[in-house]
Amino acid sequence: MHYFRRKGWEISEREATPEALFLDRRSVLGAGAGALLSGLTPTIALAATEEADPSAALYPAKRNDAFTLDRELTAEKLNGQYNNFYEFGTDKRIFTRVDTLKTRPWTIKIDGMVEKAREIGIDDLLKQVQLEERLYRHRCVEAWSMTVPWTGFPLKALIAIAKPLASAKYVRFETFLDPKMGPGQKLSWYPWPYVEGLTMAEAMNDLTLMVTGAYGKPLAKQFGAPIRLHVPWKYGFKSAKSITRISFTDEQPKNFWQSLQASEYGFWANVNPAVAHPRWSQATEEVLGKSERAPTLLFNGYAEQVADLYKGMEGQKIWF
Ligand code: MTE
Repeated sequence: MHYFRRKGWEISEREATPEALFLDRRSVLGAGAGALLSGLTPTIALAATEEADPSAALYPAKRNDAFTLDRELTAEKLNGQYNNFYEFGTDKRIFTRVDTLKTRPWTIKIDGMVEKAREIGIDDLLKQVQLEERLYRHRCVEAWSMTVPWTGFPLKALIAIAKPLASAKYVRFETFLDPKMGPGQKLSWYPWPYVEGLTMAEAMNDLTLMVTGAYGKPLAKQFGAPIRLHVPWKYGFKSAKSITRISFTDEQPKNFWQSLQASEYGFWANVNPAVAHPRWSQATEEVLGKSERAPTLLFNGYAEQVADLYKGMEGQKIWF
């Protein structure tokens, strides 16, 4: 979509239009489909998820039927070839260059306002939680959406392991910082590492998921292996990928996009079709793989589960 020298979501109005997004994605997919049809070896393929993954035996996990959808799932290939992961580039073709991400060993630091700071390896963590599959909507602030069969465990299970102090008000998530692994981090005008944050109440909500798998397998690298967040009622940028640090704090964390462009991105980022992004409408979304746009839903369709979290905050900018 946009390359160097542009900051944040500084896409031009033309590029920001849904039509342009649609054409852009089509051209990517068209290249792969063309290669397949002509019988040539496709030059693009999903990043290798087949690498020996010590957690592979945990998948597929049992589906939790409390989290289903009224929409078809987005095809795995389509989803895996259209990603945002700025550590690996500013376009959507992350799958072509994500091999430098090494997901083992992988340690997550838990610190800040906790009884005792600690580090935990991903495979140790996986032994302490119960994985389940959930079908979730995913709505990007760029006005496209997907439906994904994530596998993971509720963030609140990790919070129980972390034992935060009662005075902690927020959870802060940090992605790895290693420009050799994520060459996009050599672009010095971005405020690396990628940071996101939630209130404790948001973090404890049933819907807030730590994701370790998708489509019945360990996470493909472009999805943010080996562990990412997914907060389905917020714009996708809240769902930090490849997390290495989780901190508890009493200060509202400043996230990556907010640090870059606070006039357009804030802490809350709750989905609301009635509140436009300063440069484009959020009323509808392009459902990847479909030719027709769908209306965007308040809280991305999860109002029943989360609207109460924001009672009394009506006057505040909870939509940015
Ligand atoms: N996490 C990191 N570390 N880096 C990123 O660039 N992009 C965010 C979010 N998490 C991003 C990230 C954005 S803008 C979106 S829409 C989602 O990841 C995309 O997730 P997906 O590629 O699995 O669809």
